[in-house]
Formats: sequence, structure tokens, C-alpha cells
Amino acid sequence: MDISHASSLSKADALALRYGEDSIPAAGPWSDAIALMLSHRSIRGYRPDALPEGTLETLISAAQSAATSSNLQTWSVVAVTDPGKKAQIAKLSAGQKQIEQCPLFLAWIADVSRNERMSVEEGVTLEVLPFLETYLVAAIDAALAAQNAVTAAESLGLSTVYIGAMRNNSTQIAELLGLPQGAMGVFGMCVGYAAPDTANEVKPRLPQDAILYRETYGNPNESALRKAYDAKMAAFSKRNDMTQDTWTSRVIGRMSKVAALGGRDKLVSALHAMGFPLK
Ligand SMILES: Cc1cc2nc3c(=O)[nH]c(=O)nc-3n(C[C@H](O)[C@H](O)[C@H](O)COP(=O)(O)O)c2cc1C
Repeated sequence: MDISHASSLSKADALALRYGEDSIPAAGPWSDAIALMLSHRSIRGYRPDALPEGTLETLISAAQSAATSSNLQTWSVVAVTDPGKKAQIAKLSAGQKQIEQCPLFLAWIADVSRNERMSVEEGVTLEVLPFLETYLVAAIDAALAAQNAVTAAESLGLSTVYIGAMRNNSTQIAELLGLPQGAMGVFGMCVGYAAPDTANEVKPRLPQDAILYRETYGNPNESALRKAYDAKMAAFSKRNDMTQDTWTSRVIGRMSKVAALGGRDKLVSALHAMGFPLK
């Protein structure tokens, strides 16, 4: 199925791509924007082509239009196009090649440093700054903004992939990007044009019954739903040239050993060093 014009996908096609023919939810109202969201897929191979002028500013306008807790706007973004800097970021982020390939890398920052500067300039103490809650607000706001940028990019025919591995070496990333105290790169994002030979099939998700509960949490069929999804993901991974693997075994692989955190097990001390006491 050609999904290059994602927003023109019919509801039935978009839902079938996302869930598989056997798990199509009874979705009601529909729009082109929803079709676009359902066609999302992360892309890990990029052409070197530059983006049209003003693309960065367009994406950031979309990002800044996301809701933000109490309008605090406790996030920033560092746009990186310099090849040498992208290579350094890639090295600090598990060597992911797409960081070097993409023409634009965005480092999304949970940022309370502006508030700290405000507090000094205004001669006031902002008592809430050191709390975990404030860091969480900043990280959530950064994520909401970033996801708006993803949808905007995809609406323009661009591709993206988040880079959580940017947290593997958070303090070095902070140094490389010149972040002040109170600013932390929560994740990165590659933006660019997908290379033609890159896998781009829509990745199936858990059936809605496994995550959508009504009035009370839980579904007694959880185990059966998981097994059915395992079969779907095993087929997906086989089709997309990865090792044929179930979702369960991937989750276990990702979560059973601390080593899989790639250094992020030290995040609390890294955050302390970056000016987040997390009280
Ligand atoms: C916060 C976050 C961090 C991620 N980090 C990485 C990463 O470091 N490298 C990568 O290749 N994909 C990364 N991903 C992409 C996920 O692997 C991807 O979204 C997931 O497998 C679902 O696939 P899809 O986006 O194609 O639907 C990340 C996604 C999120 C939301």
C-alpha cells in the first residue's frame, strides 16, 4: 500500500496498517490529521539533502503551539546541523548512524535555567525550582512540543526518529551543547528525507483492548492479547529484515538487564550534576 500521501489514507486502511486486519478498533469520527498520525513511523536512514529554507522555524512554530504546563514553557531546543557536532552526538548516543546522516538534529531540552535567570534578574526566590515535579513538568512539556514537531514534519513529507540514547551520556551532551545548569537534553530527534532503501512499514501497536480500559483499570484477557500481538510483531520484524522476534522478547531484552540502559542508570546523579536536585 502506498502511504506516501498519508493524510489521504482511508480510515479503514489507516487502522488496518496500525493494528492489523484482525484488531481494527471501532473508530468513529475521522480527519486527514488523524490519518497522518496513524501513518507515523520512525525512520533510521536519511538522504543528505538539505531541508527547504525555514523548515526549522516551521517545525518549531508547531512545537511551541503544544500545550505547556501553566504556560511556563520550560523547554528549549538546540538545532544542530554541523557535521562534526552531529558526529560527536552520535558517538555519545550509542553510535546511531542516522544522527550523522540527517540534515537536522534537534536536541530537546528540559529547561528551567530561564527561570533561574529570571529569578536572579527579578531578585526573587523560585522555591519550586529544585523539585522533581518541576523537572517532570519540563520533561513533559519538551515531549509534547517535540511530538508536535514530528507531526508537522511528517505532514511536510519529512521523516523523523527520536533519539533517547542522547541520555546515555547526558553530562557530556550538556557540555557539547553548552547547556547551562538547569537544562538537560531529554532526547534528540533526527529530521530529514527518508533514504529510499530504508524500512518504513507502519509498526503495529497493541490492540486497544490491551491499553484502553473503561471506568476501571485492567483486562482479564491481557495475556492472550499480548500473545496475539507477539505473533503480529514477529511477522513484522521478519518482513522488515530484523531478527524475527516477538514483542515480549524485545521488551524483556530491553528491560531485564541494567546494562540495556546504556549508562542511563546513572541519570539521577547526572541530573544532580546538571542542576536538578529532584527534591
Ligand atoms: C523518547 C523516545 C526515544 C527513542 N529513542 C530512540 C533511539 O535512541 N533510537 C532509535 O532508533 N529509535 C528511538 N525511538 C523510536 C522508537 O524505537 C519507536 O518510536 C518505536 O519502536 C515505535 O516505532 P514507530 O515510531 O516506527 O512506530 C525512540 C522513541 C521515543 C518516543
